[in-house]
Amino acid sequence: MTKKLYIKTYGCQMNVYDSERMAEAMGGEGYVTTSTPDDADMILLNTCHIREKAAEKVYSELGRYKTLKAENPDLKIGVAGCVAQAEGAEIMRRQPMVDLVVGPQSYHRLPALEAKARAGQKALDTDFPEEDKFEHLKARPKAKRGPSAFLTVQEGCDKFCAFCVVPYTRGAEVSRPADRIVTEARDLVARGVREITLLGQNVNAYHGHEGGLAGLIYALSDIDDLARIRFTTSHPNDMDEALIAAHGDCEKLMPYLHLPVQAGSDRILKRMNRQHTRDDYFRIIDRLRAVRPDLHLSGDFIVGFPEETDADFEDTLDLIERVQYGSAFSFKYSTRPGTPAAERDQVSEAVKDERLQRLQALLTRQQRALQDAMVGRDVAVLFEKPGRMPGQMVGKSEYLHAVHVEAEGVSAGDLRRVRIVESGPNSLKGALI
Ligand code: 5AD
Ligand code: SF4
Repeated sequence: MTKKLYIKTYGCQMNVYDSERMAEAMGGEGYVTTSTPDDADMILLNTCHIREKAAEKVYSELGRYKTLKAENPDLKIGVAGCVAQAEGAEIMRRQPMVDLVVGPQSYHRLPALEAKARAGQKALDTDFPEEDKFEHLKARPKAKRGPSAFLTVQEGCDKFCAFCVVPYTRGAEVSRPADRIVTEARDLVARGVREITLLGQNVNAYHGHEGGLAGLIYALSDIDDLARIRFTTSHPNDMDEALIAAHGDCEKLMPYLHLPVQAGSDRILKRMNRQHTRDDYFRIIDRLRAVRPDLHLSGDFIVGFPEETDADFEDTLDLIERVQYGSAFSFKYSTRPGTPAAERDQVSEAVKDERLQRLQALLTRQQRALQDAMVGRDVAVLFEKPGRMPGQMVGKSEYLHAVHVEAEGVSAGDLRRVRIVESGPNSLKGALI
């Protein structure tokens, strides 16, 4: 009998990819996915631990399943992802109705853990096993899928930024071998995928190909029907010469780069253990823009890192003014127990709030200005799905802008030239050329 699996995904794109793979693995055990927890036989929360509230959200979400579990004692509840890794058995202590806890490196063991939970035992696995979880996961199905896909190529991080839990929850940097990635990419393309975003916590430290990430990108660009390649997230110190050059040389590599800097003050960058200065960052961007002048940059910023002064914060605003971002993500510093910064003098919540507001206002202005500057330009749009209006389709430009187009006869997966005619709050409007 088929059983129903409800997966709720928090956090980054790597979790989105992992959730897909877990759903496929459970497909082999007779599960089909469902979009609501109400009729599920198993609920799996794929969690994120990067900031405080993320873990709290998981606990309150679990609380909501109490009634479902009371109504259906056969319902199994699992917690996967980085909260599972960090909290381990503590989750089952705090929420005894949780049957299964699985860390991000153990997903290939999920079917066995589910069987154990079905047998009425608590199932816990937060090891960092030697074997490659992706290699041991069930082969991906052959069903058709949408034009854009994520593909995890690297996991973990050895950088140990002073604020970050990733090196503890995801472990040391590990790269998947290039040949397996190329095989998986070919499979995805055969199923209708035209754009692949390569994922890794430190994706540009990828070393599963002798030419590094650039080498992998060139190998993937040989796949005929693959039209677009992107990658995220990168660390400035791993932007090597070959990868910078690829932005000018590789036509399939899209002109959009997420390159977090976190802060603009050298003093704070040092305290964050980022291992680079603001000038190092500017130099990398100059080199990238020299080979790809239209590159859109995106970044992550943390405000209110311990000991951050007004002058430090002004340096961050100044860095943003100089770089001009096409998009960005910004966060108030959030204390993560076990990380070095957690022990330091904290900035007050009120100051964090005020800084975040100023920073976001600046970033929104920049984002909007760059988006408005697209009006009148021709872009290539990879169409993904129908829009809200009849006859309308939505897709993404090279620069990752969402573009709405009256596009009778155009299907998901089509790549067409479009002239941008209007810039709205969150997307562009265009007309087919
Ligand atoms: N507090 C706030 N933001 C954080 N990030 C990582 N750790 C923290 C933290 N403790 C942000 C960084 C990172 C993004 C994924 O999350 O900006 O690039
Ligand atoms: Fe975390 Fe990124 Fe720093 Fe690694 S490089 S420790 S993932 S912020």
